[in-house]
Order: sequence, then C-alpha cells, then structure tokens
Amino acid sequence: MAKPESFAVMPCVAFKFTIFVLVPIFAVLSFSQPVYARDSSQETTEDYCLSCHADPDLDLTFPDGETLSLYISPEALSHSVHSSLGIECIACHTDIRSYPHPPVEFNNPRELAQSYFQACQKCHSDLFAEAMDSIHAAAVEQGSDSAPICTDCHTAHAVQAPDEPRSQISLTCGECHTEVFDVYRDSVHGAALLEAENPDVPVCTDCHGVHAIQDPTAVAFRVETPELCAGCHADPELMSQYGLNSDVYSTYQLSWHGVDVTVYQARWPNLWHSSAVCTDCHGVHNILSSSDPQSSVHPDNLLGTCQQCHPGAGPQFVGAWTGHTQIDLQRNPYVFYTDIFYRYFAYLVLMVSAIYVLLQILRATVVRVRRSLG
Ligand code: HEC
Ligand code: HEC
Ligand code: HEC
Ligand code: HEC
Ligand code: HEC
Ligand code: HEC
Ligand code: HEC
Ligand code: HEC
Ligand code: HEC
Repeated sequence: MAKPESFAVMPCVAFKFTIFVLVPIFAVLSFSQPVYARDSSQETTEDYCLSCHADPDLDLTFPDGETLSLYISPEALSHSVHSSLGIECIACHTDIRSYPHPPVEFNNPRELAQSYFQACQKCHSDLFAEAMDSIHAAAVEQGSDSAPICTDCHTAHAVQAPDEPRSQISLTCGECHTEVFDVYRDSVHGAALLEAENPDVPVCTDCHGVHAIQDPTAVAFRVETPELCAGCHADPELMSQYGLNSDVYSTYQLSWHGVDVTVYQARWPNLWHSSAVCTDCHGVHNILSSSDPQSSVHPDNLLGTCQQCHPGAGPQFVGAWTGHTQIDLQRNPYVFYTDIFYRYFAYLVLMVSAIYVLLQILRATVVRVRRSLG
C-alpha cells in the first residue's frame, strides 16, 4: 500500500523540480541571454527570433496606417552572405534581444528602414562613408523617400553578391531608373549585356561609380567622359575582338573638338564649354553602331547631329570632316595632299627663314669685321 503513495509523491517532486528549477534555467538561457547562448550554438538567436518571425502572417501597422510584413523568410536568409557567415539578427538589431521589444517609434515603414540601415555602418564603414557622399544620400538628406539606402539595392535579409550575374547591377539600378534603363536596354552596350551577358560592355556603375555616384550633368563629369569611353575603346586588344577601331580616342584628341576639350579640362574644368565630347555625337544610354539607321552618327542622321551645335552647317561641312579616320589617300585625297603640302611647306618655310637669318648674321659679321679692319 505504501508503493502507490511513494509513486504519487515522486511525480509531484519531479513536477515541482521542473517548474521551479528547470523552466527558469531554460528561460534564462533561451530568452534573457540569447546573446551568450549564441556562443555555444551558432543558430540559437536566429532560431529564437524566427520562432515568431518565420510566421508569414506577422505584421505591424504604423501610426500613419501603413502595414509592414514582419515575415523573415528562413529560405532567403539561409542564402544570405551574412547568415552563412554566422552574422545573426542581433548584429544589426542591436536593441532587440528578446520579446517584448522596445516600443516602435516610427510613423511608417520607410522611417524604420531609414533608421535601421545605419547598422550597415558597423562593419562596412569605408563604403558607408563613401555612400554618404553620393547624390543618392544627398536626396535622402533632402527628404526623398525614393532615393536608395543600402537595403534598397542589397536587401536587408537576403544580401547576396550584387554582381552575379553582372547584368544584375544594371537591373538593380533599372528598378528605379526605368526610363534610362529602357533606353539602355536597346543600346549596343545594354543589349550585349542583357541578351548575351557580355562581360566587356559597361554596366551603369562602370560610368557612374557604385556608392559615390555624383551628378552626371556636372561640367567636371562631362569633360572627363572621353577618358571614360577610352578606358575600353582605346584598348586595342579588347576592341580587336569586336572588329572595332581602337584609334577613336586618339583621332578624337587630334580633332578640333578634342583639342578644345583637353584645353578646357586642363585649365577650366568647371567652366561649361559646348565643344563636342563623345556622347554629344553618339548619345549616352542610347549608343548604337554607326551602321544602325537609328544611330545619331549614321550617315543619314549625321548632319542633324552636327547641326545641334553648328546650325548653319550644310552637307559639305560633314563631307569635309575626317571623323575618326586617320587622314588617308583613298578616303580623302584632297585632305591627304593638303595635309602633306602643309606638313612639308611648314618645314620649307622654317628652313628658308633659318638660312635667311644665318645669312643675315654672316653678312652683319662680315660688315663689322671689314669696318674694324678698315
Ligand atoms: C514572441 C515573438 C517574437 C520574438 C521571439 C521576436 N519577435 Fe520581433 N516582433 C514580434 C512582434 C509581435 C513584433 C511587432 C511589434 C511589437 O509587438 O513590438 C515584432 C517586431 C520586430 C521588429 C520590427 C519593429 C521593431 O520593433 O523594430 C524587428 C526589427 C524585430 N521584431 C526583430 C526581432 C529580433 C531581432 C528578434 C530576435 C532577437 C525578435 N524580433 C524576436 C514578435 C517577436
Ligand atoms: C545585416 C543586418 C541585418 C540582419 C543580420 C538582420 N536584419 Fe532585420 N533589418 C535590417 C534592416 C536594415 C531593416 C530595415 C528594413 C529594410 O531596410 O529593409 C530590418 C528590418 C527588419 C524587420 C522589419 C520588417 C522588414 O523586413 O522590414 C524585422 C521583423 C527584422 N528585420 C527581423 C530580423 C530577424 C528576425 C533577423 C535574423 C533572422 C534579422 N532581422 C537580421 C537589418 C538586418
Ligand atoms: C556584423 C558585421 C556586418 C554588418 C552589420 C553588415 N555586414 Fe555586410 N558583410 C559582412 C561580412 C563579414 C561580409 C563578407 C566579407 C566581405 O565581403 O566584406 C559582408 C558582405 C557584404 C556584402 C558583399 C556580398 C558579396 O558576396 O560580395 C554586401 C553587399 C553586404 N555585406 C551588405 C551589407 C548591408 C547592406 C548591411 C546592412 C543592412 C550589412 N552588410 C551589414 C559583415 C557585416
Ligand atoms: C544604388 C544601389 C546601391 C546602394 C544604395 C548601395 N550599394 Fe553596395 N553595391 C551596389 C552594387 C551594384 C555593387 C556591386 C558593384 C560591383 O561589383 O561593381 C555593390 C557592392 C557592395 C559591396 C561588395 C563589394 C565591395 O566593394 O566590397 C558591399 C559590401 C556593399 N555594396 C555594401 C553597401 C553598403 C553598406 C551600402 C550602404 C551604405 C551600400 N552598399 C549601398 C549597389 C548599391
Ligand atoms: C530605390 C531607387 C533607386 C535605385 C535602386 C537607384 N537610384 Fe539613382 N536615383 C534615385 C533617386 C530618387 C534619385 C534622385 C533623383 C533626382 O534628384 O532627380 C537618383 C539619382 C541618380 C543619379 C543622378 C541623376 C541626376 O539627374 O542628377 C544618378 C546618376 C543615379 N541615380 C544613378 C544610379 C545608379 C547607377 C544606380 C544603380 C547602382 C541607381 N541610381 C540606383 C533612385 C534610385
Ligand atoms: C557609357 C557610360 C554610361 C553608362 C553605361 C550609363 N550611363 Fe548614365 N549617364 C552617363 C553620362 C555621360 C550621363 C550624363 C548625360 C548628360 O550630360 O546629360 C549620364 C546620365 C545619367 C542620369 C541623369 C540624366 C538622365 O538622363 O536622367 C541618370 C539617372 C543615369 N545616367 C543613370 C544610369 C543608369 C541607371 C544606367 C544603367 C542602366 C546608366 N546610367 C548607364 C553615362 C553612362
Ligand atoms: C566597359 C567598356 C566600355 C565602355 C566604358 C564603353 N564602351 Fe562602347 N563598347 C564596348 C564594347 C565591348 C562594344 C562592342 C559591343 C558589341 O559589339 O557587342 C562597344 C560598342 C560601342 C559602339 C558601337 C560600335 C559598332 O560600330 O558596333 C559605340 C559607338 C560605342 N561603344 C561608343 C561608346 C562611347 C561613346 C562610350 C563612352 C560614353 C563607350 N562606348 C563606353 C565597351 C565599352
Ligand atoms: C555639342 C556641340 C557640337 C557638336 C554636336 C559638334 N560640334 Fe563641331 N564644334 C563645336 C564647338 C563648340 C566648336 C569650336 C568652335 C570654336 O572654338 O570656335 C566646334 C568646332 C568644329 C570644327 C572646327 C572649327 C569650325 O567651326 O570649322 C569643325 C570642323 C567641326 N566642329 C565639325 C563638326 C562636325 C562635322 C560635327 C558633326 C559630326 C560636329 N562638329 C558636331 C561643337 C560641336
Ligand atoms: C563630332 C562627332 C563625334 C565625336 C565627338 C566622336 N565620334 Fe565616334 N563616330 C562619329 C561618327 C560620325 C562615326 C562613324 C563614322 C566613322 O567611323 O568615322 C563614329 C564612329 C565611332 C565608333 C565606331 C567605329 C566603328 O568601327 O564602327 C566608335 C566605337 C566611336 N565612334 C567611339 C567614339 C569615342 C570613344 C569618342 C570620344 C573619345 C567619339 N567616338 C567621339 C562621330 C563622333
């Protein structure tokens, strides 16, 4: 008869032990100190946070009425560069360690994002400083909700290599700059990138930079653009793969326009000058092959392109222009002979003048010597 009694007592003791000893220890370990628990098991904090945030229905309504989903996809998270390196929720959400969380003090989801992205600064301080000096950051500063912060381009929880595949870069910029993107997509550069994943053509960031994007309409940017194009178009090895001439930059520099722009670049880099840079003739985001009838430098459209700045120009104006071709006998014989003539004529004049001056000096000396003798 004693047996049932002692059996009755035993579960009771075990129950009390569980309630008063084990539960608090477990609670302390898993709730109050998830930070420390993380050291022993890398997944603990993430699992703890996800125990609520993996619920697709969890959301938050802000004072101004907008709703934000608080769902964090465990699937997306597992592919993120941070999570796989063991960088967990609290590395960025430094104020949130358990539930209940500190009160939410934002009026809408955008305010929340614009405050939380500061967390990126902790580990990417150089890039962060660079980005704060950009035209995008200036727009945010002036109150723009549509100008990008880190997480608009990289996401917060599914951060991955931003350049794989490389076309992803232009697609990211294109999410907001839809008009520019639509034009770029049909250009010789954009089509090669987006249709064939060509690694040699420029993506948006090759011309604009990545994090420190500046105003592309500034004079200083404009006069630097020929060098931007030359980075690829003056590279003989790269251009020969496409059967393109790598002289385009050197011939440009010898042209009236090129000399003009070089002088301004060196002496007055911030003074507006309308002499043509590459993009004035070829376009910017809409650059096409010169053989494409839509191209601004196609023979049918070229006169109109020159007339933007040379309103009085007629067909002869374009005909006499040597373009990117080195002056040669076949293509422009008159210019060729004129060039030869002037080249030798100049030497001839110099030589004759030198001889003339020498003779003058000789004569003067002879006269002086004669005088002193006699
Ligand atoms: C018990 C469930 C639960 C757990 C566990 C939990 N959260 Fe939350 N979380 C919520 C709820 C509910 C909200 C909605 C706002 C509120 O009630 O505070 C929220 C809101 C948030 C927000 C957005 C609003 C704010 O407060 O900034 C963030 C960020 C957040 N949680 C991060 C975390 C992190 C990081 C962890 C892990 C350390 C975590 N949460 C653990 C339930 C939870
Ligand atoms: C690399 C930094 C970083 C990590 C790691 C991180 N977050 Fe966030 N989180 C942010 C930022 C920044 C925001 C602000 C929203 C935005 O910009 O998209 C945010 C927003 C949130 C929100 C609000 C809803 C939303 O998506 O905007 C929740 C909830 C949240 N985080 C929970 C978590 C949880 C849970 C983890 C871990 C599983 C986690 N975060 C890991 C940076 C991070
Ligand atoms: C706790 C430190 C830490 C924080 C906070 C952090 N990162 Fe990172 N991040 C890293 C580390 C470490 C790497 C991997 C090494 C590297 O590429 O620098 C990385 C890599 C990256 C990469 C490159 C991925 C690749 O494969 O090229 C991007 C993009 C990135 N982080 C964006 C962000 C953004 C956006 C935030 C803020 C929401 C953020 N990081 C916050 C530590 C951090
Ligand atoms: C306008 C979009 C945009 C914004 C805003 C942006 N990035 Fe990037 N980021 C990119 C692109 C595109 C690349 C890839 C560049 C490349 O490979 O040429 C990149 C590359 C990176 C890399 C990896 C390459 C490297 O240089 O180490 C990190 C880390 C990174 N960004 C962090 C950040 C952080 C932190 C912020 C916020 C201060 C931020 N980014 C803001 C678009 C952006
Ligand atoms: C989240 C949206 C968004 C993304 C993504 C974005 N931008 Fe922007 N960008 C803006 C906004 C908004 C402005 C400011 C527009 C203004 O002031 O007219 C801006 C301004 C610019 C300007 C200056 C425009 C001017 O008229 O002076 C350039 C250049 C630019 N972005 C290039 C890029 C590049 C390159 C990328 C990709 C690496 C990119 N942007 C990604 C929204 C975005
Ligand atoms: C080959 C170099 C090059 C590439 C590639 C390029 N841009 Fe530009 N972009 C320029 C130049 C040069 C200007 C200045 C044009 C001017 O003076 O009006 C400019 C101007 C801009 C402007 C401001 C003026 C406008 O037209 O709205 C934005 C925004 C912009 N680019 C975004 C982009 C985006 C987004 C991409 C990628 C889809 C891109 N750019 C690709 C060279 C380039
Ligand atoms: C990152 C390297 C790179 C930069 C920068 C670049 N290009 Fe190109 N460009 C190419 C490549 C590669 C091709 C050949 C693409 C093809 O045929 O698929 C090309 C093609 C062209 C063509 C068409 C040639 C033809 O007849 O088929 C023109 C015109 C052109 N680029 C002009 C420019 C101008 C102007 C700039 C500066 C605003 C510029 N490019 C900047 C790499 C570049
Ligand atoms: C963006 C404006 C612009 C475009 C487009 C342009 N030019 Fe010019 N061009 C100038 C300026 C400015 C000068 C210098 C005038 C000066 O210094 O007096 C100049 C000078 C010249 C000169 C030497 C001086 C002269 O006036 O005879 C020739 C030749 C010339 N351009 C031909 C052309 C041809 C051909 C085209 C079309 C294929 C063209 N230009 C397109 C702005 C432009
Ligand atoms: C005054 C107008 C003008 C300027 C400035 C100009 N180009 Fe051209 N470009 C042309 C014309 C016209 C053609 C087509 C006929 C030819 O090849 O001469 C052309 C052809 C080209 C081609 C295609 C060559 C081929 O084999 O199909 C490339 C690439 C090119 N230019 C790049 C540039 C670069 C880079 C710059 C600046 C360094 C530049 N252009 C400046 C008018 C111009």
